[in-house]
Parts: sequence; C-alpha cells; structure tokens
Amino acid sequence: MRAWIDGHLLDDPDGPAVSVVDHGLTVGDGVFEAVKVVDGRPFALGLHLERLQRSAAGLGLPAVDLALVREGVDAVLSGQDLTLGRIRVTVTGGPAPLGSGRGEHPPTLVVVAAPMDPTSDTTSVVTVPWPRNERGALAGLKTTSYAENVVALAEARRRGATEAIFANLAGHLCEGTGSNVFYVVDGELRTPTLASGCLAGVTRALLLDWYGGVEVDEPIGVAEAADEVFLVSTTRDVQAVTRWGEHELPVGPLTQDAAAAWSAREPELLGR
Ligand SMILES: Cc1ncc(COP(=O)(O)O)c(C=O)c1O
Repeated sequence: MRAWIDGHLLDDPDGPAVSVVDHGLTVGDGVFEAVKVVDGRPFALGLHLERLQRSAAGLGLPAVDLALVREGVDAVLSGQDLTLGRIRVTVTGGPAPLGSGRGEHPPTLVVVAAPMDPTSDTTSVVTVPWPRNERGALAGLKTTSYAENVVALAEARRRGATEAIFANLAGHLCEGTGSNVFYVVDGELRTPTLASGCLAGVTRALLLDWYGGVEVDEPIGVAEAADEVFLVSTTRDVQAVTRWGEHELPVGPLTQDAAAAWSAREPELLGR
C-alpha cells in the first residue's frame, strides 16, 4: 500500500498520519471515493471526482481541490505496478473541537492505493432488516459515516453471503452496502431510481448508459423474487447473484449480456 496525505507521501503508509481530533475520525464528518485501478491506470477517475465534489457539497465541506487530489493519485500510483488495485480518496472536516461542530482547520485529504483481489463472477446476498433512510441528510452521499454498512455486511457474512441488501423506509429496494442492484422481471431489466436513497453508483450510471435498464421503485419483495439479479460496483463490476436468501437464481441471459457489454466498454474509461 502507498499513502499520501495533504501533499506528501508517507514513508510508512501504516504509520500515524491523521490528528487524533480529526472530525472524520470520531463523528464521521467526511466523504470518500473508491476507484478501481487496472494495469496502473485508474478507471473513470473523472466521474469519481465529480461525485466526491457532490458528496463534499452535500456535507457542507469546502470545495475539494481536485487538482491536488489528482496529484495524490499520481503519487500513490507511481513506483508501483498495480495490475489490479483500488485507490481510496478521503476528505474529512479536519481537526475540530470535541463534539459535532466543525473546527476552523482546513479539511484533511488522504489518498491511498493498494492491490485488490479479483472478485468472483457470482455471489450470494441477503436482505437485512435495517432500512436505508431515503429522506435523511446523508441520503445518496458517499460519506465516511458508513458504520451501518459495517453492521449490515457483518450480518450478511454471518448468514453466508457477501453482500447485504437494504430496503428503504418505503419498503422499496434500495442498494447493497457497497453496490447497486439490478434485477429482471418479465424480461425487463430494472434498478431503483436515485430517489430510493441509493448511491448514484458510477458503475450503475455507466451500465444504464452502455446497456440500458428501467429505473423504477417497487417493493423489495419484487426483486427478491426476480428471475435474475446482479450487483454492480467499482470492485464487483457486473456480478451475478446466484442466491438471495433462500432463493436460488440462474446466471440468466440479461446478466450475461450486461456483463459482456461492461467488459467491452470498460477500457474506454481507463486512465480518464
Ligand atoms: C452504498 C453504496 N452503494 C453503491 C455503490 C456502488 O457505487 P460505484 O459503482 O460507484 O462503486 C457503493 C460503492 O461505492 C456504495 O458504497
């Protein structure tokens, strides 16, 4: 792993770097992005940085210096040959007084890069009982307040799955802890709208553009009983779901087509 913070590379990427009173640390006042790296080149970095800026604005953080972020990305990628990896960019409220109020210091900016194992083509998911709040202040933002995801993912793993799926307060399908969900009903490929409270996934948007699909909000039970289901995300790409709870699923034709469309178009956004 290589790590960069506020303009400089760390000699020891695991060593101390962030203030003990950083507002991201205790109260989750921060935003982040995870970007895939293939053959040393980031995938869709521009789209991720746009979302980072939107998340920061949604949290009321100052505008992120994206040129500085790109410097950090170049720094963590140089000198290592990442065949497959992940960059994580984090921006926090910076050092602050104890409590929920923000301080006067500038934000903290961290960029790290590390190798990543390839994900398998198929996976299994479970529905977790805790709803996403599509009306909350953080809905749709990629913030460092991700502890709900930690709890949900641990529950999924306890039940033998790799991803936890949330409904929202309306009882509609929302998203996974780190993925968006597509499913097939009556031969139609569907995915929740952004009004469901799901993150505006980069992979979701690109797949809708490159392959298509209908955005619709409906009870999670419809998706749980679908003919095909797949997850999309930076780390999973297009990943078929072969079991949702007790429901076994095939890797159906639309899933296969969507995965093929993804693989065909993905190289276009490497290094961009
Ligand atoms: C909550 C959540 N939903 C969906 C996604 C998928 O988004 P992307 O395709 O940009 O990785 C992620 C991953 O970043 C996420 O954290």
